[in-house]
Amino acid sequence: MTDSAFGIRPGEVATELPENFDAGVYFIGHIRTPWTRREQCPKNARESEAVCTIEVEERFAPGLVGVETCSHLLLLYWMDKSRRDLVRQVPRNRAPTLPSPASGGGKGRGTFALRSPARPNPIAASVVRLVGVDGNRLSVVGLDCLDGTPLIDIKPYFASTDAVPDAVVGWHQEQKT
Ligand SMILES: C[S@@+](CC[C@H](N)C(=O)[O-])C[C@H]1O[C@@H](n2cnc3c(N)ncnc32)[C@H](O)[C@@H]1O
Repeated sequence: MTDSAFGIRPGEVATELPENFDAGVYFIGHIRTPWTRREQCPKNARESEAVCTIEVEERFAPGLVGVETCSHLLLLYWMDKSRRDLVRQVPRNRAPTLPSPASGGGKGRGTFALRSPARPNPIAASVVRLVGVDGNRLSVVGLDCLDGTPLIDIKPYFASTDAVPDAVVGWHQEQKT
């Protein structure tokens, strides 16, 4: 971890990670984006209309057959610059000493209640709009990661079964009021 933007903040809690991994992953490609610093990245996938490029490794390119028929894809990517030991986190722009509901009453929030990239397995997910396919390169809109972020999977997005329009994240609703 070379960038202090990825360090621990006051009020955050880290845990001891297991000595060994339980499984391995293959990076199937990399994501090219306009962002080289964390502060430049959109905070979520809907914040930018930038066209990003998915470069799939040649050996996995045959797996793209049919992808060109999809309007939207679910991308899973590996937040390679993240800490993996945080179990409680304090949002970037909130002082933990202020016990507001929005900051979790001053105690932060559990990693599994957050979309933060810092997590034991730093897997990020975004639904992207597919705007073009050129061999093993996909052009997509709807990403929020640093240039060079490793890609771990591509799946078709099924609006019929994936969308849950009335889903609620209670703490986020409180934050907005
Ligand atoms: C809040 S996460 C959301 C990721 C994904 N859309 C999700 O919901 O799982 C997006 C943030 O992760 C950070 N980030 C982007 N690329 C990263 C990388 N390669 N390693 C670690 N953090 C990264 C940036 O601060 C960016 O704003």
